[in-house]
Amino acid sequence: MSAPLRGRRLLLVEDNRALRRGIARALAERFQVVDEEGDSDRAVERLGDPGFEPYDVVVTDLRLPGAGGLAVLSAARERDERTAILLMTAYGTVEDAVEAMRLGAFDFVQKPFELPELEARIDRALGHARLLGEVAILREERAQMQARSRIVGSSPALHAAISLAERAAPTRATVLVTGETGTGKELIAGLIHAASDRAPGPFVKVNCAALPETLLESELFGHERGAFTSADRQRIGRFEQADGGTLFLDEVADMSLATQAKLLRVLQDQQFQRLGGSRLLHTDVRIVAATNRDLQSAIATGDFREDLYFRLHVIGIELPPLRERPGDLEALSQHFLEEFALEMGKPLRGLSEEALERVRAHAWPGNIRELRNVLERAVLLADGPQVGSAEVGLADATGAPQAWRPGLPPAGLPLAEIERAVLMEALERSAFVQKDAASLLGVSRRKLNYMIQRMGITHPSWRINRSVH
Ligand SMILES: Nc1ncnc2c1ncn2[C@@H]1O[C@H](COP(=O)(O)OP(=O)(O)OP(=O)(O)O)[C@@H](O)[C@H]1O
Ligand SMILES: [Mg+2]
Repeated sequence: MSAPLRGRRLLLVEDNRALRRGIARALAERFQVVDEEGDSDRAVERLGDPGFEPYDVVVTDLRLPGAGGLAVLSAARERDERTAILLMTAYGTVEDAVEAMRLGAFDFVQKPFELPELEARIDRALGHARLLGEVAILREERAQMQARSRIVGSSPALHAAISLAERAAPTRATVLVTGETGTGKELIAGLIHAASDRAPGPFVKVNCAALPETLLESELFGHERGAFTSADRQRIGRFEQADGGTLFLDEVADMSLATQAKLLRVLQDQQFQRLGGSRLLHTDVRIVAATNRDLQSAIATGDFREDLYFRLHVIGIELPPLRERPGDLEALSQHFLEEFALEMGKPLRGLSEEALERVRAHAWPGNIRELRNVLERAVLLADGPQVGSAEVGLADATGAPQAWRPGLPPAGLPLAEIERAVLMEALERSAFVQKDAASLLGVSRRKLNYMIQRMGITHPSWRINRSVH
């Protein structure tokens, strides 16, 4: 008999008690834990119980009382893809074998068998599982590197944020990412997910500002059929969809106080109910939240719950505005230029010195998203080997926005026309994302939305029923 496999855990599922006891006794020398079940439903329950650590090996009979060996197999697979699964069967038909392999079994033993044969097959399966584990680790590392390489910039402020994100990633701690609009909060949230052991699981995003209260709650928690007038079907919420992964709550400050209270409850006990439902559902979700609002003052005005703030702000990552990291401007401009040049099939080399001057002189109220939009437009307009200052189109270097002085319009041009022209310019520069246009103009989104409706401006990307972006 080979050396004991220290720290290994095995689950044995077999309804023939004598056989089960015999195998268990033989394997007990080599495994630290050998658990036994005589019924497939109980085995499935045990495998699905988050209170138990996953098993390294599951050996199961195929014909069993309850849902059967294939159900045990899928439950083990679902719990942990690295578990080595072996089936024992007296009815080793080809169909059973094919189905079991498709569901993720590693091997088969046909009854009757000698114990050494079973042990040898377990060893092989464990070797295979170890390889699978290594592949999974490599895959995670690659995803992490890819996520990391999409974040451009070398300023110390950005690096501090990235390094904090990478240190927070492997923990379960809730992270609150703050920063002005367009500073890369969503990008950082994605990095936290990619660098965590949840990377193979889902990354689910909810924009809390985009939906009114009831719809947001049904988006988050799901609903049962008939929960409210338009709920004609059951709906699985984002918390359930994100099970085993990361839930990104964007614009978390824009939630009603009632929804904040519900969210707090889920964060406290990882349990929730679908709207109109009575069953308590368990969810294993890591939360990353983001906001461009000042939560402290929202707390002071009673618009945000302080207890929820502390729950979310276990780790806080603050992204500096672009104007505070001028050192990143050139690399970011070059990065976006390359991105769009490739997309539009233009052989552009870079930005001219004058174009760069304009980029440096601008205040970037819309931050990196604004820079990206400006470069998209510039690449579209460019027809030389370089992007010039005309294509960049920002005020020239001497005219920073603060110093801009509007001239008088041509005689007879109504003020409303000027307002409309400025609004259109802001919308075009921000690819019709209302929120970005609002920050370019220095008005609230509500105000911008009001102006847009008053002037009757529409754009195909704006969905009906969603007036605020
Ligand atoms: N450091 C960076 N390197 C490369 N691209 C970046 C970087 N930071 C942000 N971006 C890009 O800028 C755009 C805006 O970033 P993101 O959506 O993450 O901002 P945000 O902070 O979530 O903004 P908002 O508050 O408006 O939601 C995205 O296209 C993103 O990929
Ligand atoms: Mg965002």
